[in-house]
Amino acid sequence: MASATTTGQVAEEYCRRYPRTPSLQLARMMYGKEKPLFRSIEHARTSLRYVRGAKGKLHHQQIKHAARLVRRIVCPPARPCDYKVYDLPDGIKRWLFLSDVHIPYHDQAALNEAVRQGQKARCDGLLLLGDFMDFYNLSKFCKDPRERRFPDELAEGVQALDWLRATLKPKAFIWKYGNHEARLDTYVMDRAPELFGIEGLTLDAFCKLKERGIQWIPEHCHLQYHRLSILHGHEIRLGYNAVSPARAASLKTGECTVVGHAHRKSEQPETNILGESKRCWSLGCLCQLHPKWLPENKWTHGYAILDTTTPSGWSLDNRAIHNGVTL
Ligand SMILES: [Fe+2]
Ligand SMILES: [Fe+2]
Repeated sequence: MASATTTGQVAEEYCRRYPRTPSLQLARMMYGKEKPLFRSIEHARTSLRYVRGAKGKLHHQQIKHAARLVRRIVCPPARPCDYKVYDLPDGIKRWLFLSDVHIPYHDQAALNEAVRQGQKARCDGLLLLGDFMDFYNLSKFCKDPRERRFPDELAEGVQALDWLRATLKPKAFIWKYGNHEARLDTYVMDRAPELFGIEGLTLDAFCKLKERGIQWIPEHCHLQYHRLSILHGHEIRLGYNAVSPARAASLKTGECTVVGHAHRKSEQPETNILGESKRCWSLGCLCQLHPKWLPENKWTHGYAILDTTTPSGWSLDNRAIHNGVTL
């Protein structure tokens, strides 16, 4: 049974954490750290002795749990883990995968082309594979104060979501968060930790994703479709500098995997020792190719279509765009 008083609860906590430390030594430590709660070291020591059932024989019998606090060292309870595996829903014939749009730093021609091709292929599912919004001003890096503020970026991102929804009319609309979407949580954790975790202070709430019928997949969670792993790429520490991002993904996962994040289209045909195909892909981006922070690069524009109607279960068509046209 837990103590009714705050001093008793604090003393219990110290007894649990330091079961073998003598009461006087622990009282000094506790008094030093919890000064507002205790009048003196002796007061702290009395609280500890009370919890430990060391205030005489009668008291020892009254405090049933005291002996346990002193003698038993128990394994601390495990902290909950947020990691989850999500499945792309069945019943969708073709998914259009768009990655690294970085609204409002998107490439309008490339984005239009990807959406146009998605319509042409009659895609009835839409997956945003991370970094859909940029959140420039939430970045940890040095920023140009003249650039867009967070509320403006957010409004433009929501407008882009509504445009995609109205244009493609997908039966299923999923947004997997990448490292840029995670900037909001990181910003709150760094700048206003007391506010972190408050309901409503999240990207899904700001964008009203539920009302918009958009399912979001949190950062660092696994998305899959019948043994195809679908990741943004930062979850497996995929860097921009890999010779082939698809090969890097193959080395990290060993399974069929499609990633964004690297901003480059690549493909790695792999077969394992059992003759099973373990092909991996990285998608091109749909953002501007020469951003201020990395104007020289080998990025390519692209998108992918996942067809779930093939005899093998699914096939992925990873396409490149050059000058606003699919190659
Ligand atoms: Fe990106
Ligand atoms: Fe990324």
